[in-house]
Amino acid sequence: MNQDQLKQLVGRAALDYVTPGQIVGVGTGSTVDCFIDALAASGIAVAGAVSSSERSTQRLLKLGIPVLDAAEVTGLTVYIDGADEIDGNGFMVKGGGAALTREKIVADLAAQFVCIADASKLVQTLGRFPLPVEIIPMAAAQLARRFAALGGEARLRAGVVTDNGGHILDVTGLSITAPLAFETEVNQWPGVVTVGVFARHKASVCLLGGADGVKTLS
Ligand code: 5RP
Repeated sequence: MNQDQLKQLVGRAALDYVTPGQIVGVGTGSTVDCFIDALAASGIAVAGAVSSSERSTQRLLKLGIPVLDAAEVTGLTVYIDGADEIDGNGFMVKGGGAALTREKIVADLAAQFVCIADASKLVQTLGRFPLPVEIIPMAAAQLARRFAALGGEARLRAGVVTDNGGHILDVTGLSITAPLAFETEVNQWPGVVTVGVFARHKASVCLLGGADGVKTLS
């Protein structure tokens, strides 16, 4: 199976976590696109979705799935999203699609985070994938210096403005051995909107697609 087929496989597998009549939290990315397509094709009648990006919102609406504003719900049973990296503890790096802030907001509403990914995203230690950080533009240079002090090299993602009007720094050269402490620290730096380490909002369940089918980590 190629990578696209693996994404379709885990997109379909995530349907097991969707309850008819409920509102589902929906992330962003090519794997989530497969989930949205599978949901629409499944005939499972959800009450709607809370979406983490304009991209997913457009796809959901096009397929006839109503989208609610996050402010209209008090909680979600499940949030389904992809990841750029995931470790054996369910800690993730996210934000390759620049949607990390809204992803963390919707994840915060949910009782369960179901991460869907192809098996290549599983790592021993987070940091191989350049870490996305949404920032306030005027803080870019100072934040680059702060990451340099940790051994990282921060680059502004050219031409990208997030759904919230923020910019993205992609940081290479980090080895994130203590994700919870790292997330807590970086989130306090002035100018950081959201760091793409999801440790406080880690995956409850991870569905990894590989040659042998879908492996469930929980
Ligand atoms: C978007 C994300 C995505 O979940 C992550 O980039 C994975 O995307 P894909 O499913 O396309 O590999 O965090 O901000």
